[in-house]
Amino acid sequence: MTQDSFENAFVGKIDFQPLAEDETVATAAQRTLRQIQLRELMTEHLYGAIPALPDNVHVSRQSVADEKAEHLTIKISVAGRQFEVDAILWLPPGLDEPCPLICGMDFIGPVGLLNSLDIPIDPNARISSRPIYGAHDNRITETLRGVSAYRWPVSMLLNAGYAVLVSCYGSWVPDDASTWRKHGLYPLLDCQNHPPTGTISLWAWAIQRLLDAAATCNEIDDSRVAVAGHSRLGKAALWAAANDSRIGAVFASNSGCGGSAPAAHPVGETLAQMAERFPHWTIAHDGSQPLNLPFDQHHFLSLIAPRAVYLSHAKADLWADPIGSYLAFQKSSEFWKPGRTKDWNWPSPHEIWKSLGKVSNGPLGFHLRTGGHDILPYDWQHFLNFLEAQERPNGV
Ligand code: GCU
Repeated sequence: MTQDSFENAFVGKIDFQPLAEDETVATAAQRTLRQIQLRELMTEHLYGAIPALPDNVHVSRQSVADEKAEHLTIKISVAGRQFEVDAILWLPPGLDEPCPLICGMDFIGPVGLLNSLDIPIDPNARISSRPIYGAHDNRITETLRGVSAYRWPVSMLLNAGYAVLVSCYGSWVPDDASTWRKHGLYPLLDCQNHPPTGTISLWAWAIQRLLDAAATCNEIDDSRVAVAGHSRLGKAALWAAANDSRIGAVFASNSGCGGSAPAAHPVGETLAQMAERFPHWTIAHDGSQPLNLPFDQHHFLSLIAPRAVYLSHAKADLWADPIGSYLAFQKSSEFWKPGRTKDWNWPSPHEIWKSLGKVSNGPLGFHLRTGGHDILPYDWQHFLNFLEAQERPNGV
């Protein structure tokens, strides 16, 4: 089986579109200007708008029987409309000062993270039907209790001193082309009367509301927040970070097309393939001609500068284009140049592939592991090591 050979993973040098405007990013102020332009272009051509702030976010907290976790009910109001959704919060033991937070969306959410029957099943949630998640008809069922716990190794994160806050993406916006407009954020935010949007933008908005919820918890230092997400939720985590500077660090696992994987490298999923299977994720775009878009995914990553970004990839997951992502990441690092004096070392794609490379260049970290499309305790351990090594940009 040669599917994950280097020859298949890397089809040759990537010619990123030479955009004259990028050449002007020499100072932090110029970077901010270019980021504003790029964010607008990506909103207009691919992801759609991230809606405005809600009027109110109210959080109530309840302990969960036999678990060290709390069940949060988050109530959001917008123009007299209300929406209620849940999340799970864990706090590290013995806190004597506010702690940093790792938060994000999970494919199954509270039910998938805990076995407790105290956690209600959201009948409106629609989640991925990929066999790995076990929700064959897109719905959360009893049989999914506890099954995504391995994707959030909570004890490891708590032992490293982080609080952990996780919700189910499909409760906020159904991951389903036929119902995503009917339930959750789309009606709450009256999206049909606002600029067009897609679910990646709405999930990013949801992640922002988790940050609002965290800000109501005295135990959490809301200036030290990292957001994590796997695959489609990695795309949403990156887009949330690109739009919200409260996020000091972002960890995107196998985020692939529309995430870290550049259109300029023809490996894995294309925007056209993504739009065909998941038309609700983005706005309608000319995915058949992605190279005509006025940006590529290195620009997407560059929106997060100067904050911290960590990418993990897997050798057998060519669909998410690990090597293209690595090269886009390297290219995006030009946006981290203002104010930097040291040169960074980016090993060649071949070296990365051969040695299962780990790269850590200040606030930019990357690793490639064996195996396939998933987020594993191994990936989290490397992300935690990366966070620990940070000189705490934004406090993380
Ligand atoms: C599909 C899709 C990817 C996505 C992945 C996931 O494979 O094509 O773009 O990242 O699902 O979210 O698991």
